[in-house]
Amino acid sequence: MTPLENHPIAKPPNQIVAVVGAGQMGHGIAHVMLRAGHHVILLDASQAFVDAGVKRIIKGLARDVEKERLTEEQRQQAVTRLETTTMPTSKPANSILPEGLRMLGRPDLAAADVIIEAVTEKFDVKAEVFRALEPYCPPETIFASNTSSISITRHAAATQRPDRFIGLHFFNPVPVLKLVEVVAGLQTSPETVDKAVRLAESAGKTPVRVNDFPGFVSNRVLMPMINEAVFCLMEGVADAQGIDSVMKLGMNHPMGPLELADLIGLDVCLDILKVLYESLRDPKYRPCPLLEKMVAAGWLGCKTGRGFYEYPRS
Ligand code: CAA
Repeated sequence: MTPLENHPIAKPPNQIVAVVGAGQMGHGIAHVMLRAGHHVILLDASQAFVDAGVKRIIKGLARDVEKERLTEEQRQQAVTRLETTTMPTSKPANSILPEGLRMLGRPDLAAADVIIEAVTEKFDVKAEVFRALEPYCPPETIFASNTSSISITRHAAATQRPDRFIGLHFFNPVPVLKLVEVVAGLQTSPETVDKAVRLAESAGKTPVRVNDFPGFVSNRVLMPMINEAVFCLMEGVADAQGIDSVMKLGMNHPMGPLELADLIGLDVCLDILKVLYESLRDPKYRPCPLLEKMVAAGWLGCKTGRGFYEYPRS
């Protein structure tokens, strides 16, 4: 294990933040951590995923210079604080992880102060990421999940460090939106909450502490609205543009619920609704059949080029 003070790049009070998952949320979290002066280790299942994430981070940092959020020198320093890793080892027979996520034994990960997991919104996949990490991380490393809805208490219980496990829920687009829901599980220690709050603040975010209930506050409120908008579409109350216009012009929302669902990803919305429906056992969270059908068709929103709207590939 490399002690923090001996790490070649990180200087206290900056931290070493490992981000697992280089997708929409993961690359955004890595971007804001770099921008804040932290050292980031970004990892994903394949080099292609990592490369795609890095490309977007580099673009985001360049944009920060254009908009005078960073100087050119700060941008260059930020890039040098980014490390990436993949592991070509093959997937064990009993693993449900995508090939490559077995790489988590790299010694540089042992130096991480915090690991923020931002992989698929499925309990088993996330739990296996943490199980794979556990043997390589010293006891003081905090495990954080960017889960949108899954129980932090349940995740914490599946690790050897339940008191050092926490939810750090960022919002998309991460570089722009200020909120981080800091979700304390039943076992999360006050020290872990304090460290997580300080990390979020260091990245220019406004942390809001919430307790661990399905969907927390954000998705408990947001997803029923999106789901109801899909029901409105399915039942012909209005077309997609009409529904979105009502919410933008009448409620002053920056985006309509269907546009927003496309941004979040329809698969992610469906996964969250299923967590709410199954955990709270209340029919008001039943996912709209049209949402299920669109996900089955692979129409997942912006990321696949088609959702409630079409997004021509540039
Ligand atoms: N990714 C990264 N940056 C983006 C972006 C995206 N998809 N969309 C816009 N931006 C950036 C722009 O580049 C611009 O940044 P600069 O300062 O560098 O120019 C900035 O956001 C403002 O963009 P625009 O002026 O083009 O557009 P806008 O003023 O209409 O804002 C928006 C765009 C920020 C996306 C705004 O419409 C908005 O806030 N929408 C609501 C988003 C929202 O509700 N997100 C939460 C989703 S829920 C979630 O993430 C959690 C979950 O668990 C599901």
